[in-house]
Order: sequence, then C-alpha cells, then structure tokens
Amino acid sequence: MFKLAARQQWDACADGWNGKSDLIRNWLRESTDAMLAMADIKTGARVLDVAAGAGDQTLDIARRVGPNGYVLATDFSPAILAFAKDNAWRAGYANVETKAEDGETFEVAEASFDAAICRLGLMLFPDPFKGLKRMVHALKAGGSACTMVFSTPEQNPCIGVLVSTVFKHADLPLPDPYRPGGLLSLGKPGLMDELFGRAGFSHVATTKVAAPFRLPSVQDYLDFVRTSASPILQILAKLDDARRETAWAEITDKLGAFNTSNGWEGPNELLLTVGRRPTI
Ligand SMILES: C[S@@+](CC[C@H](N)C(=O)[O-])C[C@H]1O[C@@H](n2cnc3c(N)ncnc32)[C@H](O)[C@@H]1O
Repeated sequence: MFKLAARQQWDACADGWNGKSDLIRNWLRESTDAMLAMADIKTGARVLDVAAGAGDQTLDIARRVGPNGYVLATDFSPAILAFAKDNAWRAGYANVETKAEDGETFEVAEASFDAAICRLGLMLFPDPFKGLKRMVHALKAGGSACTMVFSTPEQNPCIGVLVSTVFKHADLPLPDPYRPGGLLSLGKPGLMDELFGRAGFSHVATTKVAAPFRLPSVQDYLDFVRTSASPILQILAKLDDARRETAWAEITDKLGAFNTSNGWEGPNELLLTVGRRPTI
C-alpha cells in the first residue's frame, strides 16, 4: 500500500523532477562525482543504476563508461524512467537501457555488472536490506556498489522543518525521523555500514559529504519541493487546501532562517557508502 502510493506519487512528480534536473545537477555535482569514483566506474564497465529517476546520474555514468560500456537504469516509476530514457537518447548515449523495476525485487542475471549505484533512492525503500541484497546478486565478484542517502536530522534541518510542519498541521504526532521509507531513514550513524555488511558486501566504508542547496531565494527551494519532492508531497496530501497553504506559509517563514547575504543556503549532509562483492 505504502509502495503503491509512493510509486503513484513519483509518477505524478516525474515531470517536476525532470524539469529540475539542472538544479539537482548543481546541488549534487560534487557528491555524485565522489559516488562514481567510490564505485570505481571505469571505461567499458557494465553499471546498474538503481532508482535512477530521470537519469541525471545515468548520463554521468554513460559518459564515464564510454561507448563500449553499458548502463541499465531502473526505477519503480515508469513515468520518471521514461524521462531517463529520453534524456539518454537526446544526449546521444546508445549504451543506456531502462527497465521499470522495484529496487527491492528487480531481476537481472547474477554477477552481470561491474558496478552498481543508487543515488538518493535507497532510503525510500521500505526494506533497503532487500535492495542491497539484489545489488550484491547483480555484481560480479570484486564489483563495487556505492549508495547516496541523507545523514542525520541535525545535518539536514530543512527536511525536518518540512516534515514537522506538515505533521503539525495535519494534527499528527511527529514521526520518527528514522522510520523505514522516510527521507532520513538511513541516516542513523552506523546503520548503512551494518546493512551493507549484512547484505554480504566486504570492504564497507561510509563517507560524509556536505551538499548544501545554494539557491537565489527560499522560494526557489520551495518551488523545487512543490514540483518535485515526492515524499514531502505525499505527506502534504494529508492536508486540505486551507491547512496546506497555512503549512506552506509557516515553512517559508522557518526556512527563511537559512537566508544569507548571497541568497539562500539549505544545509544537507549525505552519506556515501561503498562495498564490494567478495571474490570468494
Ligand atoms: C529522490 S529520487 C532520486 C532519483 C535519481 N536517482 C536522482 O538522484 O536524480 C528517488 C527515486 O527513487 C525511486 N524509488 C523510490 N522507491 C523505489 C523502489 N522501491 N524501487 C525503485 N525505485 C524507487 C523514485 O521513483 C525516484 O525516482
């Protein structure tokens, strides 16, 4: 039920997320470069991109692996994946394929990929352990996976403002930030390493990366959230129109705390976790 609603919400936001590709690319440029380096993506490699969305990072991978490499971009939302396919085609990458699949249950041939990545997707899975098990299965012995998720609530305060304000206006108790499937669900210190280890990865390590959202104004951030941030919109759907507008007004006010002399800067911290499929 949770997953069906989440998929439908991502289908509905697909156009919005794709439309914000430039903004997302700027926001995640350094962390994405670091993720692809940690996954050890080389020329000619076969790479699995899980929860690929509109394929922004898919294009980076396609460029890195070159025409002799291959990228399979998967996502459970056919609507958002259609953008990934179109974006790859427009960019001239013939080495990208897409397949609509749930990240917890996808089927690919065992040991058929050199590397796997998942950018800002795994924390939304109700059972991320299952997703990591599928990645281990997909990798060749010695192949690496690298995932990117949000870290703690303290280091990602804007997400806390969004969620707490909406829940308050919906008269609901404040949810556990680490609840499964929530934006911050995998931020608890040590959890990613533990999940990678249990899923069967070796050489597991997590690196923290600062990824502040730098925008001209708080309105630009709110515009991004309103058009693209499916998990927040899913929560907002709990409110009627009047309460929703009141919630937005309060969110705008609270997020004004991050105004700077050069615009608006919302702090974010990400966790990049890498692991290898053992060779024996
Ligand atoms: C925040 S977006 C990130 C998209 C893309 N990786 C990026 O960084 O631009 C999260 C993506 O995860 C996908 N997703 C969420 N739950 C999923 C699941 N269980 N299986 C596969 N994809 C899922 C959504 O459809 C969405 O495209």
